[in-house]
Amino acid sequence: MSKVKNTEIPKFKKVCEILARYNNDSSKLIPILQAVQDEYRYLPEEIMTFIATSVKIPPASVYGVATFYAHFSLEPKGKYIVKLCDGTACHVKNSIPILEAIRENLNLNEKTKTTPDMLFTVETVSCLGACGLAPVVVINDDVHGQMTPEKALALLEDIKRKESVQ
Ligand code: FES
Repeated sequence: MSKVKNTEIPKFKKVCEILARYNNDSSKLIPILQAVQDEYRYLPEEIMTFIATSVKIPPASVYGVATFYAHFSLEPKGKYIVKLCDGTACHVKNSIPILEAIRENLNLNEKTKTTPDMLFTVETVSCLGACGLAPVVVINDDVHGQMTPEKALALLEDIKRKESVQ
């Protein structure tokens, strides 16, 4: 019997479920990649190759789609994705000091966006569509308006506390 690492079995099992849901149909590549990204928070390289083989298209085509859409990430992301809006409304209401406070707290910078423990990824985005609440921070699906550096740090501390007791 060939040896498969225990950690790899659930990994491919999930992908197989997603592929089955879309009948291994190459015309459904975007929703397939979306579902995979929802599951892993990014598109692991070996999984993209696996998908290519399963839907019978060249791996380069899968990479092409994954790199074309800014929405897809080829880099691992943290469990909590912190999006700081730096659109016009948020910028004029001082979004940058919030970003600086978050990065300093998590020891991140423009290049290093994810903490080594894979808990947080910090990104900037342009207009989250909630300008009335500016400045806005979104953590995963939760929108937090009228942010200040202090409030943002309190949110991070809440998450850290919650995670450390789990
Ligand atoms: S500019 Fe930040 S939500 Fe629109």
